[in-house]
Amino acid sequence: MDLSTTYLGFRLPHPFVPGASPLVDDLDTVRQLEDAGAAALVMHSLFEEQIAREQVAAARYLDVPSESSPESLTYLPDPESFVLGPEEYLEHIHKLKAVVSIPVIASLNGSTDGGWLDYARLIESAGADALELNVYALATDFDASSEMIERRTLHMLTAVKNSIGIPVAVKLSPFYTSLPYFARRLAERGADGLVLFNRFYQPDIDVEDLEVAPTLRLSDSAELLLRLRWLAILSGRVTASLAVTGGVHTSLDAVKAIMAGADAIQVVSALLRHGPEHLATLRRDLALWLEEHEYDSLEQMKGSMNLERCPNPAAHERANYMTILQSWWG
Ligand SMILES: Cc1cc2nc3c(=O)[nH]c(=O)nc-3n(C[C@H](O)[C@H](O)[C@H](O)COP(=O)(O)O)c2cc1C
Repeated sequence: MDLSTTYLGFRLPHPFVPGASPLVDDLDTVRQLEDAGAAALVMHSLFEEQIAREQVAAARYLDVPSESSPESLTYLPDPESFVLGPEEYLEHIHKLKAVVSIPVIASLNGSTDGGWLDYARLIESAGADALELNVYALATDFDASSEMIERRTLHMLTAVKNSIGIPVAVKLSPFYTSLPYFARRLAERGADGLVLFNRFYQPDIDVEDLEVAPTLRLSDSAELLLRLRWLAILSGRVTASLAVTGGVHTSLDAVKAIMAGADAIQVVSALLRHGPEHLATLRRDLALWLEEHEYDSLEQMKGSMNLERCPNPAAHERANYMTILQSWWG
């Protein structure tokens, strides 16, 4: 079965890619991921705050003003708690390129249009084949309009695109007033791919210790539904390629994501739960499913349930909401 797909301009033998996570930190695990057939790798992120911390330290040493405020950095984890610092991150790209022959996608994660974005150039020089720009931000400022926030992200993308030649994907949150509008603006500014969606790790409240407690919970397939809707709405209507991240655990989840319009499928929680060899299972079961349902190729199925091609487009839109509420009364 021909499972090949194109993502960020790379011709991949199939759509399964380990998403950004600590899975790529250990070279033995990386070899196992490649043996299990990973089509490409996404590295965990290098965070704006890590780079800013280093820039503040360098500025202090050189006695020059830095773009970042030292106060804002005091709430962040210690530098030692990150597995790879900025320099080690670049070295790790070199190491990955030496051990695998599949595309290596590095990841920069931040929310401001600042000097930290210079790292995009260093990441390209270190040998990364592409860059994922994770624009994880929480809009907590009462004076920041949605337009200001989106303009900032567009500036970040432009700064990165102007400084490097490798493809750039933007990893987005689902929380935009008009995602189609913003997605199209990103594509017009040169985003080669859009990655849907960031998961928000939502803090819980510990009522005994009166603390805001961070929680890290792996996903399940229920999280895919939000992604399916937006893939279906964007598919075929933006020039950027589309990757899904969040809630793909089984080959059936993958079938749904491809039907909705995904070009690539990023998997993290399922690999953390079942190990790297789960990639091979996903790939084999996807091929079997396509054969059983008499498809000639993955490409034939891609986007077949998107907004433009599915038999009931209203099901992706507001009509669906009314139908679901009505269904309560049978
Ligand atoms: C332990 C862990 C570490 C992660 N680190 C990153 C990261 O550094 N950068 C990033 O963009 N996403 C990171 N993610 C998010 C994943 O890339 C992915 O988007 C998310 O887990 C949803 O996919 P899943 O349902 O397959 O887990 C991390 C996820 C986990 C569980």
